[in-house]
Amino acid sequence: MARLMFILLFTASLVPLVHGSGAGAAHLCRTYCGNITVDYPFALQSGCGHPSYRDLLFCFNDVLMFHISSGSYRVLTIDYAYRSMTLHDPHLSTCDSIVLGGRGNGFVVEHWRTPYLNPTPDNVFMLLGCSAQSPLFQGFPTSKHMPCRNVSGMGCQEYYGCEGWTSVGLARGGLGYGSGPPVCCGLDFEAIKGVNLSKLECQGYSSAYTLAPLRVSGPSEWRYGIRVKFAVEVSSDSFCKACEATGGSCGHDVERFGTLCICGSWNSTSNCDAIIKLSVGGTSLPVDKLSGLLIASSAFWLTSFRN
Ligand SMILES: *[C@@H]1O[C@H](CO)[C@@H](O)[C@H](O)[C@H]1NC(C)=O
Ligand SMILES: *[C@@H]1O[C@H](CO)[C@@H](O)[C@H](O)[C@H]1NC(C)=O
Ligand SMILES: *[C@@H]1O[C@H](CO)[C@@H](O)[C@H](O)[C@H]1NC(C)=O
Ligand SMILES: *[C@@H]1O[C@H](CO)[C@@H](O)[C@H](O)[C@H]1NC(C)=O
Repeated sequence: MARLMFILLFTASLVPLVHGSGAGAAHLCRTYCGNITVDYPFALQSGCGHPSYRDLLFCFNDVLMFHISSGSYRVLTIDYAYRSMTLHDPHLSTCDSIVLGGRGNGFVVEHWRTPYLNPTPDNVFMLLGCSAQSPLFQGFPTSKHMPCRNVSGMGCQEYYGCEGWTSVGLARGGLGYGSGPPVCCGLDFEAIKGVNLSKLECQGYSSAYTLAPLRVSGPSEWRYGIRVKFAVEVSSDSFCKACEATGGSCGHDVERFGTLCICGSWNSTSNCDAIIKLSVGGTSLPVDKLSGLLIASSAFWLTSFRN
């Protein structure tokens, strides 16, 4: 009996030792592309990161690319503390260079990703050379008023002062005062929910953001690019914190997209100490490991009462 008890106890203590610590798994998913850290909720490997950001980032020759339905963008920065990233589109107009001809990507995100990925409210989109028939000027989407406005102190009035306008044959200063639609219309993303140049019948666009509380004087000092906010549910956040605290890496099931904690040699639906946590009222666990522990501990109690 004593021998059986020893075996059972040994098995019970071995389970968390083998599967629990998962040393090294914490860095299983984290990686770099050039000098940009790619970490949760993002990932470059399939099965890593939050499922809403799957198939989003790609690394080519140390250049991190972001791919959504409107096209590909270069990722310039990812700020994990403020949960934002900045993107660059080569056909985005800046102050020095106005790009027309409808070549820019704009910004349209897949519907299923919209709760997780949106331009920040302080990012201004300036739509350039839109036709008079553009939905922008037809009470789009519901309001009867033209949606053009300044965002975070940035807008077309100042943008018209940019050097780039001269090279596209439009005189600086004389824009936006005619009877037709304005040559430039500034908006925040929320107002239109998608910058699709062909749908909006625009020839180009610019996008700029400020890094508050920095106040910059004019459009030549604005930062050009698209600033995007990323957010995951509070429940996913706490799942990931618990997973990483136990040495795991946060990932997901590649078929059903449920969250997984990757613990090195096995995957947990909670965290890498799941079996230890059980005794203080844990949640769902791998059934085989769980029942092994239950049998072991009940056998232990049975034998101790007998003695
Ligand atoms: C990352 O590398 C790019 C050039 O590839 C450079 O412009 C940028 O400043 C670097 N960023 C950091 C944070 O080192
Ligand atoms: C754990 O999950 C990852 C991501 O889905 C997968 O690539 C890996 O094969 C899984 N490992 C095991 C042991 O099931
Ligand atoms: C943009 O709009 C055009 C025309 O409405 C449509 O065919 C195209 O699929 C849209 N693009 C995206 C990325 O939604
Ligand atoms: C935007 O700001 C400029 C000055 O920075 C101002 O002249 C202009 O009237 C503002 N436009 C709107 C639509 O509020």
